[in-house]
Amino acid sequence: PSQTATVIIRADQPGPVINRNIYGHFAEHLGRCIYEGIWVGEDSSIPNTRGIRNDVAAALRELNIPVLRWPGGCFADEYHWKDGIGPREKRPAMINTHWGGVVENNHFGTHEFMDLCEQIGADPYVCGNVGSGTVQEMMEWVEYMTSDADSPMANLRRANGRDKPWQLPYFGVGNESWGCGGNMTPEFYADQYKRYNTFVKNYPGSKIYRIACGANGGDFNWTEVLMKNASRRMNGLSLHYYTLPTGNWKTKGSATDFDEAGYIATLVNTLKMDSLIAKHAAIMDKYDPQKRIGMIIDEWGIWTDVEPGTEPGFLYQQNSMRDAIIAALNFNIFHAYADRVAMTNIAQTINVLQAMILTDKGKMVLTPTYHVFNMYKAHQGATSLPLALSTPNYEHGGKTIPAVSATASRTKDGQIHISLVNTNPSAPATVRCEIAGLEKQPKVTSGQLLTAPAINSVNTFDLPRVVEPKTFSDAKIADGTLTITLPAKAIVTLVLE
Ligand code: AHR
Repeated sequence: PSQTATVIIRADQPGPVINRNIYGHFAEHLGRCIYEGIWVGEDSSIPNTRGIRNDVAAALRELNIPVLRWPGGCFADEYHWKDGIGPREKRPAMINTHWGGVVENNHFGTHEFMDLCEQIGADPYVCGNVGSGTVQEMMEWVEYMTSDADSPMANLRRANGRDKPWQLPYFGVGNESWGCGGNMTPEFYADQYKRYNTFVKNYPGSKIYRIACGANGGDFNWTEVLMKNASRRMNGLSLHYYTLPTGNWKTKGSATDFDEAGYIATLVNTLKMDSLIAKHAAIMDKYDPQKRIGMIIDEWGIWTDVEPGTEPGFLYQQNSMRDAIIAALNFNIFHAYADRVAMTNIAQTINVLQAMILTDKGKMVLTPTYHVFNMYKAHQGATSLPLALSTPNYEHGGKTIPAVSATASRTKDGQIHISLVNTNPSAPATVRCEIAGLEKQPKVTSGQLLTAPAINSVNTFDLPRVVEPKTFSDAKIADGTLTITLPAKAIVTLVLE
């Protein structure tokens, strides 16, 4: 039986702008994300532009990715940038100790990353090495990337083929400094942050938004100490929260082999993002009531067990309809906190964790999560419209979550975009939606639907189009009420004009 939800959208009470950086990405030197996924080298038989795969770059361009975080992750705190510049055959190798112990040849370095960003149209967000690097090393990297002076590092960059400095809008001072980035206490890291950050200089023409390492999930004390001790000197403070299907790091659960109990348990864990943001934001509000400092959720997504038979350290997992729903639920939450959440970066773009794209040598497949990023991209930079939602619940095995989740925004040219999720895997939902404050009744000009035969349906190299968006026309307006019938386990986006 179809159940009914009601939504009242307040077009007359516009909220904050949804920062386009909420749709950011993260690509680490981990498994087959950078190597194979993005970088194949200039001599590869896979079509590429200066070593970067053309198929992947084109698919990423389509998403309008605003910002890309690199080189880690845990890798960032053992990365020494000078090993990744100059002639590739002369670059020293290193061991990637966190991720499979593989030998990293450093063929993808600063120039290649900046080229990638230019090819896909994303702003670079570079994460510096606090854990095993020196202040001088970080200072010189920033000079190398952003200075136009007749100075040693700028001249080294020129010698390596890049005359003009790059724009580097975002810089992270360390990653997970409470864990793989150095196992520091918040007090110690706050001091380290201030010390390293002092030497992250704004050279003429450059203004860097500085992001301090933030909390691990529900570590509210970390946020408290960082805000108290260092907030004056930061622009953003990060937060990492992953959805683990079981909630347990040892046996996280399969990406594809799960039942309805596993499905709802996973969504319960995803929805915890809401209260986590609320609680961290409340601490930030105490020290920063003007909301000058952005909450930067620079790692999020579902983290499952790896695909059977793959290297555990490569974090390669399939991506299902469940993951698409997870992505959409997260976006709906991020939009609701658009006054504080200034950027998020899904982990990770290709072949790692909740990926947009999977590759197998020359083949590429777009995942259900990719399609959600594409369907939702109109919300980037749009003005959020507050909404009141009353929804039936979806219950299974003693667990309960809202069946319907919704978000709405208005673009600069006046279009209203409404995105809806029905989490219930077996019952459709009817949504009755009123939009308050419009002078005339709008028309639904287009709609898209993402659903699948099953909650664990996936796209594979052999069957790449099992989960893909279709035109949606089950939305009707009459007497000022928009009535939408959401199929079971579905995501719908609507455009109204
Ligand atoms: O995204 C994978 C890893 O998760 C990152 O390297 C690290 O920052 C986090 O623990």
